[in-house]
Amino acid sequence: MLYSEKVMEHFASPHNVGELENADGIGEVGNAKCGDIMKMYLKIDNNVITDAKFKTFGCGAAIATSSMATDMVKGKPVSEALKLTNKAVVEALDGLPAQKLHCSVLAEQAIRSALSDYYTRQGIDPLPIVGEIGECASCS
Ligand code: FES
Repeated sequence: MLYSEKVMEHFASPHNVGELENADGIGEVGNAKCGDIMKMYLKIDNNVITDAKFKTFGCGAAIATSSMATDMVKGKPVSEALKLTNKAVVEALDGLPAQKLHCSVLAEQAIRSALSDYYTRQGIDPLPIVGEIGECASCS
């Protein structure tokens, strides 16, 4: 089996799909090459992520990683969510085939992009904290 059971579960019934009204941070990342787009909505209270939703126009691995990544950041302080790596998301999904690893980078970047938007709305320069949000390196 190419995909783990967990990946199949999150692909078949993804968690946290949709939009959040009055989101405190919205991020959108995409890859011009594979055409996948991910939009992330975060609700943040007192620097804690209280809700997260996403919309992914993309492959199954991108959907499964967004589902898992949103589960993982919910209830976490912003500072911890910033440390979430695509590697941790892939591990939580019991792995991804090597050629689909880049899809998990999209989820990590979507969260960082939403947090960057959150900081900007707070009047804080996000760059030293969030860093550069680049393109999915494996796709480009
Ligand atoms: Fe899945 Fe690029 S093919 S994100």
